[in-house]
Amino acid sequence: MLTTNKALLAKADKGKYAVGAFNVNNLEFIKAVIKAAELEQSPVIVQTTEGAVKYAGIEYLVALAKTAAKLTKIPMSLHLDHGRDLKVIKAAIDAGYTSVMIDASHVPFEENIKMTKQVVAWAHKKGVSVEAELGTIGGSEDLVSAKQIILTDVATAVKFVKATKCDALAVAIGTSHGAYKFSGASKLDLKRLDELKKALKMPLVLHGASGIPKNIVDMAKQYGAQLGDPHGVSDEDVKAAVKLGINKVNIDSDLRLAFDAGLRKELAMEPKEFDPRKILQPAADLITEVVRAKMQLLGSSGKA
Ligand code: G3H
Ligand code: 13P
Ligand code: ZN
Repeated sequence: MLTTNKALLAKADKGKYAVGAFNVNNLEFIKAVIKAAELEQSPVIVQTTEGAVKYAGIEYLVALAKTAAKLTKIPMSLHLDHGRDLKVIKAAIDAGYTSVMIDASHVPFEENIKMTKQVVAWAHKKGVSVEAELGTIGGSEDLVSAKQIILTDVATAVKFVKATKCDALAVAIGTSHGAYKFSGASKLDLKRLDELKKALKMPLVLHGASGIPKNIVDMAKQYGAQLGDPHGVSDEDVKAAVKLGINKVNIDSDLRLAFDAGLRKELAMEPKEFDPRKILQPAADLITEVVRAKMQLLGSSGKA
């Protein structure tokens, strides 16, 4: 069942849990994520970046998501993650996305307000939800990068939400994108999050929330991946952030690592196999496993 982020996150806010938003680029990822949601009976957000749109084509992505939504009873939304190009955002709204993010956190404050207001005007006319971003989430992956992390200021956020009327806000509290978030243990500014939630009283979004599970990293390394010493956000920190009012948690890197580890292992163990369906299935199964664990952590299991 296709719904909006606004509906999913209002319920999560009330029920004090978070909905996982999982980045997908193709059929295997979408099916693996939906399978996890069904096994967990959890609501789910399927999201694609502008990079995914460039890779797969917007029509393919919408058709895949709409088919998934038609075939499942699980409430799910299709969300554009980190929309930066107004043309792509408009195209996503017109193509059938039920939620979009306008990420103008890298431009001056007044410009961020102006762009976000424009997207809210287009989106709300069609019942599409809008996530905006204030402050910067660090890290660098393909099209999304921010060299310096500027944490979200509470008073500025209140002004921003009042001016833009966005439905959800991505806040910067110390996370970053990718697999190399911290040199040691994870550290989030939870005090700031508490203040933001109390002042804004609306669904808040945590980006860069992958845990970079050690067993998956070790498995990928065992079969040849060169990953150095990656570190993610600890389960305890994610749990604490959800308790303080995060209602949407973005996960991309953990799925990429699961796919990489599963694929490398299969190719190494079955060198005679060359049927792509057989080669890809274990990788997809590992994604399902990772997504299920995430849903349990976020408290969304059983909330469908
Ligand atoms: O924040 C979003 C992603 O992790 C980056 O994804 O490589 O598809 O732009 P991308
Ligand atoms: P990770 O790199 O931690 O998975 O972050 C994903 C994200 O924030 C997508 O918007
Ligand atoms: Zn992000």
